[in-house]
Amino acid sequence: MRPRASGPKVGFDRRRRSVSDGVTREMSQMPELPPVMLTADQVQARIRELAREIARDYGPNEDLHLVAILKGAFLFLGDLIRAMDRNVTIDFMAVSSYAKGTTSSGEVRMIKDLDSGLEGRNVIIVEDIVDTGLTLAYLQEILRARSPKTLRTACLLSKPSRRKVDVKVEYIGFTIEDRFVVGYGLDFAERYRNLPFIGVLNE
Ligand code: IMP
Ligand code: MG
Repeated sequence: MRPRASGPKVGFDRRRRSVSDGVTREMSQMPELPPVMLTADQVQARIRELAREIARDYGPNEDLHLVAILKGAFLFLGDLIRAMDRNVTIDFMAVSSYAKGTTSSGEVRMIKDLDSGLEGRNVIIVEDIVDTGLTLAYLQEILRARSPKTLRTACLLSKPSRRKVDVKVEYIGFTIEDRFVVGYGLDFAERYRNLPFIGVLNE
């Protein structure tokens, strides 16, 4: 069965943490370890499915160029490309959304641009999470202006209830409720990026 394009919808039920969630005994000693929304195994399995969806959508001889948005998408990119068996190249871009705390202000500023051009390439933007969609709308606009052959977007997580602009995302890992999530690359004040699972803050 073909997975839904938007990925499984995920609620949050105060799951208990366990070693099978990807939480080691040492890690469970971390103060304020957030409760698990998506286990490390769920994340990894869904990323392998996304890689298969992407493989189906592009011809077998098409090279892909993945543009990951720093810092949140770095682990997602690493696992996604290791699940792909074709020629891939990668590049990184960093943007700041002038975020204060847990909400984005809507203004986007580029901090680090790409190393190489996009003309004629099959480009996939790799993002951690789409919230209001403002960051992604900005990125798609500036990258489309660089004349890629194709431009698509892969996001590990999506919070559709928070959307302020209608932005197209072809590959979505999981659709989640409006909760502030951390782990697997996502941070709160630069913390929690190293967690192997997706956790919920302030539960
Ligand atoms: P947007 O422009 O509102 O869509 O915000 C996108 C960016 O905000 C993401 O790339 C994240 O860096 C950050 N963000 C939004 N929601 C969350 C969250 O729940 N946890 C961590 N970062 C988030
Ligand atoms: Mg981000």
